[in-house]
Amino acid sequence: MSRFCKTFGVPHPIIQAGMSWASSNAALPAAVSNAGGLGVVAAGPLYPEDFRKVLREVKALTDKPYAVNVPLYRKQADEILDITLEEGAPIIVASQGGPQKYLARFQAAGVKCMHVVASEKHARKAADAGVDALVVVGGEAGGHPPPDQVSTMVLVRAVAKAVTSVPIVAGGGIADGDGIVAALALGADAAQLGTRFMATREAWVHENYKQAVIDAGVSDTALVGQGLGPIRMIRNGFAQTYLDAEAQGAPKERLKEIFGSTALKHAALDGDVENGKTEAGQSAGLIDDLPGAFELTERLIREYRSALARLSELNIALEGRLKRDHERVL
Ligand SMILES: Cc1cc2nc3c(=O)[nH]c(=O)nc-3n(C[C@H](O)[C@H](O)[C@H](O)COP(=O)(O)O)c2cc1C
Repeated sequence: MSRFCKTFGVPHPIIQAGMSWASSNAALPAAVSNAGGLGVVAAGPLYPEDFRKVLREVKALTDKPYAVNVPLYRKQADEILDITLEEGAPIIVASQGGPQKYLARFQAAGVKCMHVVASEKHARKAADAGVDALVVVGGEAGGHPPPDQVSTMVLVRAVAKAVTSVPIVAGGGIADGDGIVAALALGADAAQLGTRFMATREAWVHENYKQAVIDAGVSDTALVGQGLGPIRMIRNGFAQTYLDAEAQGAPKERLKEIFGSTALKHAALDGDVENGKTEAGQSAGLIDDLPGAFELTERLIREYRSALARLSELNIALEGRLKRDHERVL
């Protein structure tokens, strides 16, 4: 059992990442938690009272641990944090801000606190502040990857070496059980999957968006908005307009104007995958179906266990060979 599973009372080291719109509902997180992973409600785009309603629905749908993702920069973050406590959510995953804003009162209330970080420096700071786990997201990720684009492979390894006192969750580019085991091999205690869970029947995004994820290949995403809080998204008309302007050396004001001319909501709710911000990670290229979230979580569990068994068999074979070599020398 990994440190993550022990700390958070979750049977398997699998987290459905908090994703604005996609997991701002009850159906997706509850299905993942019921199947033995950790479902995460994304508070990001919800009005406070809608958020409260979603939390009550989650509690009606599952008695397993679930989490709430709160981007700390948003205007109503304080209200959202209050509701998270009032409704008794057992775990919070905070992103885009420092842990001081919530840590003491959440831990005093018995809430476990995970913090999203994008560098070793921030990882050390959050661990020193006392968070219960770190979520480390690399450059492959959908949504807001680290602006410096360090890959999951390198960043997770660097943080695992820098911080050993708390469990680490790896995110960015993971879409199946083999990816989960790769994250564990890097020193992570669990893996967080975003884009993979967007292509599920329960994800709260338009069918066009889900289809765009299924259709995308591994090189069909781009980083858009460098210097403006960049997003990784599936290339479309909006991305091309922005990238062309950037390549032509357009002034910052013009780039800001293009970047601000559309939103994730247009893709997620309206289904405009040509002009909306179709946030998704490189792992879209590993996804080609639209399962239910419970069924997907069960599949991920089977896959990561079979990947672990394959590696264990390799080790047994290696031990046998080393033993035979040793006996020959004697
Ligand atoms: C559509 C979308 C919306 C996201 N919204 C949020 C969010 O509201 N808060 C947050 O902390 N991360 C958000 N993320 C990032 C995810 O939590 C996660 O780190 C990322 O999806 C992992 O990479 P992957 O997509 O390659 O699995 C979002 C990602 C996507 C794809």
